[in-house]
Amino acid sequence: MSDGHPSHKQTIRRNAGTDAESVQMSNTPNPLAEMTDGAATVGKQPDRPNPSFEQSALPGFKKALLGRRSIRGFDGQPLPEQTMRDCLRDATLAPSSSNLQTYELYWVRDPANKSAVTAACMGQPAATTAGDLIVVVARGDLWQVNRDKLVDLMTQGGTTPLPDPLAEYYQKIVPMTLKSDALGFNNLVRRFIFWRKGRNNAFVRTPVTKGDHQVYAHTQAALAAQTLMLSLAAHGYESCPIGGMDADRISAILALPKQAEVSMVIAAGRGTPEGLYGPRLRLPESDLIKEV
Ligand SMILES: Cc1cc2nc3c(=O)[nH]c(=O)nc-3n(C[C@H](O)[C@H](O)[C@H](O)COP(=O)(O)O)c2cc1C
Repeated sequence: MSDGHPSHKQTIRRNAGTDAESVQMSNTPNPLAEMTDGAATVGKQPDRPNPSFEQSALPGFKKALLGRRSIRGFDGQPLPEQTMRDCLRDATLAPSSSNLQTYELYWVRDPANKSAVTAACMGQPAATTAGDLIVVVARGDLWQVNRDKLVDLMTQGGTTPLPDPLAEYYQKIVPMTLKSDALGFNNLVRRFIFWRKGRNNAFVRTPVTKGDHQVYAHTQAALAAQTLMLSLAAHGYESCPIGGMDADRISAILALPKQAEVSMVIAAGRGTPEGLYGPRLRLPESDLIKEV
């Protein structure tokens, strides 16, 4: 099937750069370089979308988008450390609900952990041949911890007041939406509040079940995962998301708390030609895109 995208060989050739090239890529100035941990970028906003931005950004975006395929065979070489750090950092720019950033990215560097995670991916070739493995973990349970950290950042460590509507949002609305307890009492209360408030006006309807909370958590994790894979592509590397894995075993390997949920593993590295299993295949646009 020809979809106008780079062919299998072209895709692989594009990525078969030398180490010098990859170092070059990792040295590309990163607009985030000056963003220290937890720092806001307000005040020195980078270029935001506008018509001239489109001219410069779109070709690169399309290249990265089209260059990303799920690759199941790699040459086994880890990415240069700085490149991987850059990609991981890019991933943290994914949007998240209420900006709570309730996910974690575990770059599995320890060889024993890497082989254990590989085994938990049930011998899938993407995992056994990957240069690097990143476990994407949904941490919906961290909403309160992260909320407090965010408020701390927004108030310069509590030295300035949090203005409304932010204060009301983070102190009242976020807990009302996300607070949970072992017996599900909060879910029950929420079900009632949502029903009552939603009778006459539009109002959120979830989360009211454990499953809703899981969907919420995995949504944030998946957005970070996709951002990571696009960044890997833009850096000239390939990836494969792996959902077919033993999440319980991986949780144990990473010593995750029981509320954390492994969302997926991302295999990354330089793809081999055999690692691309076939042409890109998508359903007709009309199945996926609806105009209403
Ligand atoms: C959440 C998720 C889980 C996936 N799990 C696996 C997996 O376990 N093994 C695998 O080889 N591919 C896996 N894939 C890759 C899909 O098969 C792939 O994205 C799909 O066939 C489309 O191909 P493309 O990514 O090359 O466009 C997964 C993809 C997603 C989004």
